[in-house]
Amino acid sequence: MKQWINKLRQERTLRQEEFRQLLTGCDAETLRYINEQAREVSLLHFGNRIYIRGLIEISNYCRNNCLYCGIRKGNPHIERYRLTEENILECCKQGYERGFRTFVLQGGEDPALTDDRIEKTVAAIRQSYPDCAITLSLGEKPREAYERFFQAGANRYLLRHETRNELHYKQLHPAEMSSKQRLQCLRDLKDIGYQTGTGIMVGSPGQTVEHIIEDIRFIEQLRPEMIGLGPFLPHHDTPFAGYPGGTVEQTLLLLSIFRLMHPSALIPATTALATLAPDGRERGILAGANVVMPNLSPREERKKYELYNDKASLGAESAEGLALLQKQLKAIGYEISTERGDFKCNAPRNKNKEQI
Ligand code: 5AD
Repeated sequence: MKQWINKLRQERTLRQEEFRQLLTGCDAETLRYINEQAREVSLLHFGNRIYIRGLIEISNYCRNNCLYCGIRKGNPHIERYRLTEENILECCKQGYERGFRTFVLQGGEDPALTDDRIEKTVAAIRQSYPDCAITLSLGEKPREAYERFFQAGANRYLLRHETRNELHYKQLHPAEMSSKQRLQCLRDLKDIGYQTGTGIMVGSPGQTVEHIIEDIRFIEQLRPEMIGLGPFLPHHDTPFAGYPGGTVEQTLLLLSIFRLMHPSALIPATTALATLAPDGRERGILAGANVVMPNLSPREERKKYELYNDKASLGAESAEGLALLQKQLKAIGYEISTERGDFKCNAPRNKNKEQI
């Protein structure tokens, strides 16, 4: 197995069969080895500095009914909220004082958050914080909307593709949603000039090794600047309540595979990973992640943005917990970077002209 890992580090890709073997036959020893290799690559590109992003969850209203997600339209049991522009600016202010230089505005696809309203909020943040990056994570929008937000000052956009396989996509989403639409959005975002993030849930219901290989190929071709991976975790009020969650090990394996394939990509140790295991964040970093996204949302609303059971939003997962985060990072030899942390391509990439 080690020879595939060495080859992956050198060539940044593997053949189908080699990926299959790595994904199906990865024992504890192999996992340790690939995590080490990925950590080395991450250290070479970023040093021991971890970028922080302030996550502001601006609305938990959503018009979609994704089967895995706790804030799906069909969940009548959660209390819905939406931040005002003033609330959001207050979060940014607090974040800026704590050292954050990236604000991530994430939310459900909330019809009341009109393009006008989002554009105006982005412009206001841009005006008050000219030195900060603005990341949006607000789902699928028409290209024109993405263009307006970009013009108003947004720099980055996160939109996970969730799964590249169309049938699997249909298993995870309601009939009105399509993989094609999601991929079109990703192409639009890249084309407009956003630093674009995509990714998957690891261990989502129905996911197979073949699906994961399709995701790996898709990301290889799209070459996103950011790659987000977290374990699927069930939420009690969704149709997937009874399904098992993804595992820490499979998530760490994929994190390392993506780090070896995409040395300069920005890869977070996600909240879902930190929720699944008390040392998940640290293990993510030691497997090649180089970003963390503490929660900057108003405390009263945090519990309501429950994508999955017991989602972490306190302690080192929170903006107030930066000192704790710092301590945890120090214990594994890392420190917080308060730079903006834009994508820098300091590694020659594989040329791949295939269309996504
Ligand atoms: N478990 C893990 N991740 C989830 N997300 C949504 N619901 C869940 C869940 N139950 C992830 C999706 C989405 C991101 C914002 O959160 O991948 O893109």
